[in-house]
Amino acid sequence: MKISVIGAGNVGATTAFLIAQKELGDVTMLDIVEDMPQGKALDMSEASPVELYDGAVTGTNDYEDLADSDVVVVTSGLPRKPGMTREDLLQQNAEIVGSVVQNVAQVAPNCILIVVSNPLDIMTYHAWKISGFPTERVVGQAGVLDSSRFRYFIADELDVSVEDISATVLGGHGDTMVPLPRYTTVAGISITELMDAPVIERLVERTRNGGAEIVNLLKTGSAFYAPAASVAQMVETIAKDKKRILPCSAYLTGQFGIHDVYIGVPVKLGAAGVEDILEIPLTDEEKQALTRSANTYRDGIALLGY
Ligand code: NAI
Ligand code: 2OP
Repeated sequence: MKISVIGAGNVGATTAFLIAQKELGDVTMLDIVEDMPQGKALDMSEASPVELYDGAVTGTNDYEDLADSDVVVVTSGLPRKPGMTREDLLQQNAEIVGSVVQNVAQVAPNCILIVVSNPLDIMTYHAWKISGFPTERVVGQAGVLDSSRFRYFIADELDVSVEDISATVLGGHGDTMVPLPRYTTVAGISITELMDAPVIERLVERTRNGGAEIVNLLKTGSAFYAPAASVAQMVETIAKDKKRILPCSAYLTGQFGIHDVYIGVPVKLGAAGVEDILEIPLTDEEKQALTRSANTYRDGIALLGY
C-alpha cells in the first residue's frame, strides 16, 4: 500500500508514525512548510530500528511524490484554539482542503480519501465535491474518535478494561453528535443495565465536549493522539480489507431519512472504502437527534456554495 498524509502537523505526523509502526504500507507526509515533513520522516525512520518496523517513511512538499497513492489522509488545516467552535474554521480550512484535494485528485485519482480537517462533516462533503470521486471513496474520520472517548469515559467510570467496551456515536463531529447508550456495551451488556441514567448523561455530555476539553487544556491547539489512533484504525481496516463496522462520516442518500450530507453513521469499511452503511434501527428520539445533527451542517455546506 502507498499511504499519504497531507499535513505533517500534530495529527498528520502522529498518524504517519502509527501507520509506519503498524506496517500498513509506505507512508509519505506532505506539508506546505518546507523541510519539516522531511525532518519528521527522517526522525520516524531513525526510530524504526528500535521499534522494529520496515517500510519507507518520507516527507515532501511535492504532490508528484504522492502519485498513485492508495489511501490519502487529509489533515491539513487550522486546529481550534480555546473559545473556537469547529465551525469557526470553515472558510480558511475550506480553502486549504479544496486546494489540497484538487492536487490529490490529479496525482492519485484512484485513492480513498480520509478527511480529518475540521469542521469535519462539511470538509468531507467539500472534499467529495472537489475530488469528483464516487462517495464510497471519500470518508470522514470523527466517529471512531468520539466513540473511543465515550469508551474511555465508561471504562474509567466502571473501573473495567477498555477492551470490553464497544460504543456507537453517530451524528456530526460537534455539539450535535449522537452517542447511543442503547448500542453501547460492556462485554455485550448494554450500559443502560450497568449505570444510572444521570451517570450515562454525564458521560454522554463529556463525550460531546471531548474535543473542547482537550483544547482548553492544551491552549495552543487540539487533540492529536486519539485522533491519530482513530485515523490509523481506519487506514488499517482499508489496507487489510477488514470490513470493520466503524462510525464514520459518510454520504447519505436517504438512509435514516437523510439526504445529501456527510454525517456519522455505522459504516462497513474495506478495500473499496465505504462498502455499506448499516441502517440500524433507531428510536424516534434517536432518529430526530441524527436528523437535527445532519441539518446543522446544511448551512455550512451552503456557505461553500453547494
Ligand atoms: P496542526 O496545525 O498541528 O497541523 C496542520 C498542518 O497542516 C500544519 O503542519 C500545516 O503546515 C499544514 N498545512 C496547512 N495548509 C496546508 C496546505 N495547503 N497543504 C499542506 N499542508 C498544509 O493541526 P492538527 O492538530 O494536526 O489538526 C489538523 C486539522 O485536523 C485541524 O483542522 C483540526 O481541527 C482537525 N482535527 C480533526 C479531528 C477529527 O476528529 N476529525 C481531530 C483532531 C483534529
Ligand atoms: C477533536 O474532537 C479537534 O475535532 C477535534 O479533538
